Amino acid sequence: MPPVSLGLPSVDRRPDAAAGPAPADRPDSPFLIDSYGRRATDLRVSLTDRCNLRCTYCMPADGLDWLPTPDVLTDDELIRLIRIATDSLGVDEVRFTGGEPLLRKGIVDIIGAVAGLPHRPRMSLTTNGLGLARKAKALAAAGLDRVNISLDTLRRDRYAELTRRDRIDDVFGALTAATAAGLTPVKINTVLMRDVNDDEAPELVAFALQHGYQVRFIEQMPLDAGHGWDRGTMVTAEEIQAALAGRFRLSPHREPRAGAPAELFDVRSGGGDLLGTVGIIASVSRPFCGDCDRTRLTADGQLRTCLFSRTETDLRVLLRGGSTDDEIANVWRTAMWGKLPGHGINDPSFLQPDRPMSAIGG
Ligand code: 5AD
Ligand code: SF4
Repeated sequence: MPPVSLGLPSVDRRPDAAAGPAPADRPDSPFLIDSYGRRATDLRVSLTDRCNLRCTYCMPADGLDWLPTPDVLTDDELIRLIRIATDSLGVDEVRFTGGEPLLRKGIVDIIGAVAGLPHRPRMSLTTNGLGLARKAKALAAAGLDRVNISLDTLRRDRYAELTRRDRIDDVFGALTAATAAGLTPVKINTVLMRDVNDDEAPELVAFALQHGYQVRFIEQMPLDAGHGWDRGTMVTAEEIQAALAGRFRLSPHREPRAGAPAELFDVRSGGGDLLGTVGIIASVSRPFCGDCDRTRLTADGQLRTCLFSRTETDLRVLLRGGSTDDEIANVWRTAMWGKLPGHGINDPSFLQPDRPMSAIGG
């Protein structure tokens, strides 16, 4: 395939492709390539849209209208899609997300089944940590490689206010248990919000360094169910770097970023000793869509080419309608070929997707 420019034209309103013959301009490749020269190798699978926290930046206190159970893919349906992705489409990495993925009853068995696939992918889990202490060993034994645990504050009262649940000890327990189970490197996901927890960046880094975790600050994205995101109040990557500079010396980490969204920085003490690394995911202020290697599956079997897609491709209807593996693989390829160049958050015409983050998976 000829190299394609990865410049990101800001408006491209092609719909995601749905079932049907492959577009004539798609090169004959088994992989999940798109028309901007990217290849998706990382599959994000949302196991459930439910959650046992109610983070204020994510969902209302009463929760959301959860997906009806019959719409949610069964374990077998899910495993079949992951097998198609790894056998036929070149996916080599699977990240399980939610909602809160540990609420999915069959999670250990799903991971065990994926570990037994002919082309076993690397597997990781993004969790809020509730219940992980109990399951970490079983998850590791089933084949899970590592975890990302969400923690936005180290202060009990703030945590309770932010998540509307007084469960911070569960998260500390989860971090310890994940390390003990070898689900390493353990990464901490942190979203900073202005006048809520934006004064904690250096403390969170110090905490992570002390325990051998790697913290990654994620710029808040317009994905909240309440559509309350405000660019003006978003804490930017630049501000986070400035806040950390008050206590540490940051310099770009040597290894190139290669598809990973986090910009990695070496963290040094004032005296120059290397203490570890910190990641910053500047999805809004420094978008990395040009390097995106992701494809996403919602718990109800909808394929999304991007977190911010406004269209989806229904794989559940194919699974339940008797389609063959090859047919499903081809629909997946065609949908990915139509992936848009970027999320468009910075376009005046940007519209937030209908699904909130909790129903897409982080
Ligand atoms: N922007 C950025 N990150 C978010 N998360 C949830 N909602 C948002 C948002 N709007 C984070 C959670 C968790 C991960 C799944 O994504 O805090 O760490
Ligand atoms: Fe649950 Fe994650 Fe949303 Fe918090 S951000 S309510 S942990 S899905």
